[in-house]
Parts: sequence; C-alpha cells; structure tokens
Amino acid sequence: MAYWEWNSSYELGINVIDNQHKKLVQYINDLHAALTTQNREQIYIVLVGMTNYTISHFAFEEQLMEEAGYKMLNAHKKIHEAFVALIQKYKTSFEEGRNITGQLMAEIQIWLTHHIACDDNDYKECVKNMLEDKSIKQLETRTENKKKSWFSILFG
Ligand SMILES: [Fe+2]
Repeated sequence: MAYWEWNSSYELGINVIDNQHKKLVQYINDLHAALTTQNREQIYIVLVGMTNYTISHFAFEEQLMEEAGYKMLNAHKKIHEAFVALIQKYKTSFEEGRNITGQLMAEIQIWLTHHIACDDNDYKECVKNMLEDKSIKQLETRTENKKKSWFSILFG
C-alpha cells in the first residue's frame, strides 16, 4: 500500500491540474520508497525531481490563473514562493548531509492537502470557466475554418 493514497476529494475537476497533483502525491510516495532503501543517491534523485516538478506545476497553475483573470493571483503566487523556498531549504539540508526526508514528507503532505483544499479550490471556478470559454472558442474557430475550406472546395 502506498504511503499516501490519492483521494478523489482532492480533485478540483480540472483534469490537467488533478493529474499534476497526483504526480506530486506520487513523488511523496517515491520519496518514501527511496527512504526505506536508505540510499542517499536515490533519495536525492527523487528530491531534485520533486523540486523541479513542483516549480513547473506552480508556473503552469499561475499561467492558468493569470489567463483566467483570477483576482487572488498575487497572493497565490506568494504562497507558491514560500513553498518552493521550503523545499529548497530541505534540499540544501540534505545536501549538507542531514536526514530531513521524513520531516519533509510529513510537512509536504500537510501543506499540499491544505493548499489543494483551500487555495487551489478558490481559483477552481474561475479557471474552469476560462477553460470552457477557451474550448468553445477553439471549437468555433475550427468550425469556422472547416466552413472556409468547404466553401473554397465548392466555390473557390
Ligand atoms: Fe497552487
């Protein structure tokens, strides 16, 4: 059984984001597995992968919030920055030879659960609406382009 099981109550209903959150949960499980091997190299590989993935995920989320005109974007960005600083701090401690992984896992689990339930849940509707509008517009453009090509076949 995994250290941390994904729970459907974590879902925001935005597939692309839910999948990225699942990947973060997977990273915690990978970290737990690496920890049981006591292999520092293995732990470090997961730690670096998780840090990079988190930074990319936050950048992606911020991009969506910006496109959606989400009002709390700056506050949300600050929360992300603080979390990245926290992971970096743990990574540095590990590089300096301290064994921080157990503490890090527990802290991230609490942080992520809270962040998804509160902060991410707050942008959910705004981003969902933006994505729906966008896909409707793309559909309209595609239909429009198709119409143009039918038109040129028939009358061009
Ligand atoms: Fe977030």
